[in-house]
Amino acid sequence: MLGQPLRALIFLLLVYQNDGYVTYRRAKSQKQNIRSYPDEASKDINICTLEQKNTINLFCYCDEPTFQLATMADCWTFNNGEPREASIWREFKSQTNLTKLTFNVRGSTAQTLSFVPTEALAQLPELRTLEIVYAHIKTVHSHAFANLSRLQDLALGRNQIETLSRESIAHLDDLRVVTLGDNYINFINNDVFAGLPVLRKLYMDRNNISYIAEGAFEQLNKLEELDLSENLLTGSLSRYVFLGLMSLKRLDMRANRLERIGPEAFAELVSLEELVLEDNTIRSIDGKGFSGLPNLVRLTIAANRLKMLDDRTFHHLEKLRFLDMRYNNLQTLTYATVEPVMDRFPNMTVYIHLQAGNVFECDCNLLWMKRVAADTSNEQLSRELMDAKCSINDTDGPAAATGRQTAVSGGGPDKVGSRRDDNKLDGGGSDTDDRKETGGYGSKGGDRKTVDVDGGEEHGGRLPPPLDESQMVSVTDLDENTCPGKEQAVVDGTPDAAQNSDRVLWESKSAAAAPGPSVAFALLLMPLPWATAVLFRRRP
Ligand SMILES: *[C@@H]1O[C@H](CO)[C@@H](O)[C@H](O)[C@H]1NC(C)=O
Ligand SMILES: *[C@@H]1O[C@H](CO)[C@@H](O)[C@H](O)[C@H]1NC(C)=O
Ligand SMILES: *[C@@H]1O[C@H](CO)[C@@H](O)[C@H](O)[C@H]1NC(C)=O
Ligand SMILES: *[C@@H]1O[C@H](CO)[C@@H](O)[C@H](O)[C@H]1NC(C)=O
Repeated sequence: MLGQPLRALIFLLLVYQNDGYVTYRRAKSQKQNIRSYPDEASKDINICTLEQKNTINLFCYCDEPTFQLATMADCWTFNNGEPREASIWREFKSQTNLTKLTFNVRGSTAQTLSFVPTEALAQLPELRTLEIVYAHIKTVHSHAFANLSRLQDLALGRNQIETLSRESIAHLDDLRVVTLGDNYINFINNDVFAGLPVLRKLYMDRNNISYIAEGAFEQLNKLEELDLSENLLTGSLSRYVFLGLMSLKRLDMRANRLERIGPEAFAELVSLEELVLEDNTIRSIDGKGFSGLPNLVRLTIAANRLKMLDDRTFHHLEKLRFLDMRYNNLQTLTYATVEPVMDRFPNMTVYIHLQAGNVFECDCNLLWMKRVAADTSNEQLSRELMDAKCSINDTDGPAAATGRQTAVSGGGPDKVGSRRDDNKLDGGGSDTDDRKETGGYGSKGGDRKTVDVDGGEEHGGRLPPPLDESQMVSVTDLDENTCPGKEQAVVDGTPDAAQNSDRVLWESKSAAAAPGPSVAFALLLMPLPWATAVLFRRRP
């Protein structure tokens, strides 16, 4: 920083002693003026030496302050900044070689920088990286970035942006990354993003987005990562919201308010490898909710309000290797549900944290756990299943469910911590980063929100009643001949057939468990309030 005035001084000395250079510069400067802004009066202003202009509420530190030689500038607005019409913005033509430009705001009045300085950007054809932070830009206007054909990285986080106008981020042929996190964007229309042929990453986390128009991302055919986490998306999303995202590999919708996953909700996303839906309020996932995702490797549906999973939920997820279902209200997990991923079990890492008081109902639907515990070559999975407990108080109803619920959320923050530790251990099979999954739940509010008992509103901070250990049974103690609910697992009309066919199915799968991809399968199951569902009804 101290070097800047010094360098400016040296530069001035040089200029003073070198008429030839000055003449050259003037000639060049005039030439530029003729080309763009014929404003003779300002031809000597260099935006890298604005310290000398004490009437201007803007200054820039440059890597090389000489006219046209700076490649990086770090600019600050202060006091009331400069109005949009100010001629100073045009003076960025004194440094047309800039490839990296940052605007910061010093001071906090709302006027300091309340718009994208398009006039300045239009002078900078070489710009590759643009960052504006802590400004008070409410609206990004149309063509705000002046079609900067070399711009690759656009960072607009933390600027209080509420509205993205039509084609506000558009016609930027080389743009690869757009960061819009930490703003107040309310909705995304389908005319905001246009002409962005190589955009790879779009970060819109921590905004107020409650509406996304169908086709909003339709032109982003090369987009690989879309982060919509910590927004206000509610209900269910139309699959047409994701039209055109044929290259998308990672979709993050953590910490929204989604309630349902409809059929084929993500079917546009044929390349998707990771889907993060944790920390929403999802109560139901259609049996075909995840269909059309042949490349999905990681799926996180933790911290929702799922009471049951359709038998078809994991069908056709041929590449699934990591599945996190912790902190739901699951009452059971049937063989039919996990069967599609069974062949990948040998190398899976599975955590079932029933010890925390998280309780399945003891019934025949859980017998597969006993079998897998005995048969699998995966020692860790076997241990987890051996430890699994269920509740024998299987009369459905709010009272019983409440008792179980109590057991479940009794963990509190400490338990979250230990679960994360456990989770780290499972790293073996997981080849993608654990950032999101260990990042905790409900980062917006700190501690993870309490799982509600009655499926209604959240009851923040309510302590669950103590767990009644006397009602808990190890899953491995379930007896196939006497397990409660046996009559519900009916195949071909006879209970025996059901048991047999189930076992046969398992054994054949087990035998056929040829080497496959290693799998991290994090099954951490939360207690179920009064889920009454019997998942396992297979009727031919
Ligand atoms: C931009 O910088 C290069 C050297 O990096 C220089 O040759 C060229 O003259 C500069 N452009 C302008 C317009 O000054
Ligand atoms: C950017 O390109 C669009 C479409 O080609 C055009 O309508 C718009 O005027 C251009 N904006 C600027 C500032 O050049
Ligand atoms: C954004 O959402 C938060 C939380 O829901 C709310 O308090 C705030 O007023 C919203 N801000 C805007 C600008 O919409
Ligand atoms: C499991 O891992 C072992 C050794 O790491 C490997 O040889 C085998 O092919 C894997 N099997 C499956 C089903 O992934």
